Amino acid sequence: MNNAVAGFSKLTKEDKINWIANEYFTNPSEAIATIKQYWNSDSKLQQLHDEFIENTITNFYLPMGIAPNFLINDKYYSVPMVIEESSVVAAAAKSSKYWSTRGGFKATVLNSEKIGQVHFIYKGDVQKLENFFNTTKSKFFSETENITKNMQKRGGGILDIELRNKTNELENYFQLHATFETKDSMGANFINSCLEQFAKTLKVEAQNYDGFSEEEKNIQVVMSILSNYVPNCIVRAEVSCKIEDLAEKKIENPQEFAEKFVQAVKIAEIEPYRAVTHNKGIMNGIDSVILATGNDFRAVEAGVHAYASRNGKYSSLSHAKIENGVFTFWMEIPLALGTVGGLTSLHPLVKMALQILGKPSAHELMQIVAVTGLAQNFAALRSLTTTGIQEGHMKMHINNILNQFQTSDEERIMIKKHFESNTISHAAVVEFIENLRK
Ligand code: MEV
Repeated sequence: MNNAVAGFSKLTKEDKINWIANEYFTNPSEAIATIKQYWNSDSKLQQLHDEFIENTITNFYLPMGIAPNFLINDKYYSVPMVIEESSVVAAAAKSSKYWSTRGGFKATVLNSEKIGQVHFIYKGDVQKLENFFNTTKSKFFSETENITKNMQKRGGGILDIELRNKTNELENYFQLHATFETKDSMGANFINSCLEQFAKTLKVEAQNYDGFSEEEKNIQVVMSILSNYVPNCIVRAEVSCKIEDLAEKKIENPQEFAEKFVQAVKIAEIEPYRAVTHNKGIMNGIDSVILATGNDFRAVEAGVHAYASRNGKYSSLSHAKIENGVFTFWMEIPLALGTVGGLTSLHPLVKMALQILGKPSAHELMQIVAVTGLAQNFAALRSLTTTGIQEGHMKMHINNILNQFQTSDEERIMIKKHFESNTISHAAVVEFIENLRK
């Protein structure tokens, strides 16, 4: 079958749905019913969601859950999380409760600088380019004044612009490397607008610069774009307590627990195969708060993993130590987040999530997000180094299996009772359901 289509974006929503249903389903009316089942009955709300992207046909639900009892810098938070993986919210909630009786989490924003670059090609004398940049630098600021004035009122703006010579790595390649402070907004639009103006100024001023030859005047701008790598936009999250205070029902020998935990982190520090999974666990926590608060999880993912490789080898984002009988577990990660702009005032659930968090500033949200990541990592390592991950994971996953088999309420009660004292595995649950139904 040829599934190519011309002018899809110009079709009405109804026609798009009809085309998809007829093209890909043997029972188109059933497909249309499923698509429409997820529409919101409030047409204004539906329109809002339709207009977030192009070619919308329906809404894709993900659950939004709450991990309560996060004590961060002596203040309690209930953290909204949006995620499909069954054990993540439970793990965060378990960790937050555990640490709330051990001093809670400490978090600090170390810096909050964002970066953007104009990538350009210049063929000529490097010294002349440097002279040109130094005489023109103030123009990059003055010609972006109409873009930066509101940001400046909020205490942000362009911090600096540097000329960077990259010709060692790529012939004739230079950059304007600019740093920004964007306060409570993630700042992508602000930064990109500034950069595009820098690019215009660069081209025009080069044309008018007497010190350049005709060829040198012809600067070619390749692109102007922010960087999602933000190694100077760092937040630190930490937990710490005396070894003996780590004890609880499942941690009978806290010294042994702490040593094994530190060992597990050290393995993730030196072994990339483990580091990726270790960091994935951290991102379970981070991404779910990022999604709930309407931030860009792809930007955060890209930046965080680049940071995890900053020393030339992919490594653990978190670290742990035992010193003088005290266990400390911490993480420093780059997070460029916003609590204004973007989806934050548009998506009703994002607005709610921010309200639940007490309408945080971007700095406060960085702290909450980092802490949720650390809490998730603690929960994963605690399970991995004690009971193993499957016990808790399968306990949460059992509902997915029950839904897959469309079990009745009666069957659910019997299945859950049986697996209170038996090891849960997908095969064991399926076998039990089949036996029940014989
Ligand atoms: C599963 O989503 C995350 C874990 O694999 C993280 C880890 O291994 O540390 C449990």
